[in-house]
Amino acid sequence: MAAKVISGKEVAQQIRAEIKVEVDELKQKHNVVPGLVTILVGENPASISYVTAKGKTAKELGYNSIQDDQPGDISEEDLLALVDRYNKDDSIHGILVQLPLPKHIDANKVLYAINPDKDVDGFHPVNVGKLVIGEAIFKPCTPAGIQELLIRGGAETKGAHTVIVGRSNIVGKPIANMLIQKGPGANSTVTVVHTGTKDIAYHTKQADILIVAAGQPKAVTADMVKEGAAVIDVGVNRIGMTPEGKAKLVGDVDYEPVKEKASLITPVPGGVGPMTITMLMKNTLAAYKYSLNEK
Ligand code: GUN
Repeated sequence: MAAKVISGKEVAQQIRAEIKVEVDELKQKHNVVPGLVTILVGENPASISYVTAKGKTAKELGYNSIQDDQPGDISEEDLLALVDRYNKDDSIHGILVQLPLPKHIDANKVLYAINPDKDVDGFHPVNVGKLVIGEAIFKPCTPAGIQELLIRGGAETKGAHTVIVGRSNIVGKPIANMLIQKGPGANSTVTVVHTGTKDIAYHTKQADILIVAAGQPKAVTADMVKEGAAVIDVGVNRIGMTPEGKAKLVGDVDYEPVKEKASLITPVPGGVGPMTITMLMKNTLAAYKYSLNEK
């Protein structure tokens, strides 16, 4: 039986509509709108497209959205000073520094300089720590989007064996920590597999829920998936780049054959991607409410 395809695009639209209602109400009451700044260093094409999409969504929701573009050769010192300026700016509730940063800049140093109360990416160690102990204010956007897709897609996480492929700080580690917590949309038994794992397929074949963030096309093929599993594809791989700079976007899962075996699957594009941006908007709303004392 072919899987039910969960459209992240549709779920994201639904959540954005919910956010808009809340923002409009708070705006009326306080006469302040949520403020989000995205800092983009250099001209990485993928980063430009992500930041543009984030800004467009923020504007659609009535946020004060600032895209602060900086040259690729900005010094670490100047970038830290810029972050500090936004830390002190009361009209800005969320600060996002788009990654990757150029090699001459210590990315961690920059991420650690963001006021944790404005860290809408959830990358600051204070927020990572809060996530691990189940006290998160800002769940990192991609894992938060995955969790929301599982909930709204009807995948039962409680008691499920969830296998995560990939151990990045942005996806694998935080989603593992989120899904082992008690409470709704979690309470899973979690296995994380990675490049150091001896037999990845041995583990993936046991997954009731399989989350794939490997960064490689066809990292998961149909023979690695259990019949009836829910499969979340986090991959964003651009293949077959044309001279005009156009590429095909594919995930990490061999989509068509896996779809025939799974009970639930997310497409690429239109799966996790739109959810990531939406969760950024949700985190910015949370930061704004925090500043208004409306928790
Ligand atoms: N680059 C790729 N994904 C992300 C993300 O979620 N946040 C930031 N800041 N940079 C990224």
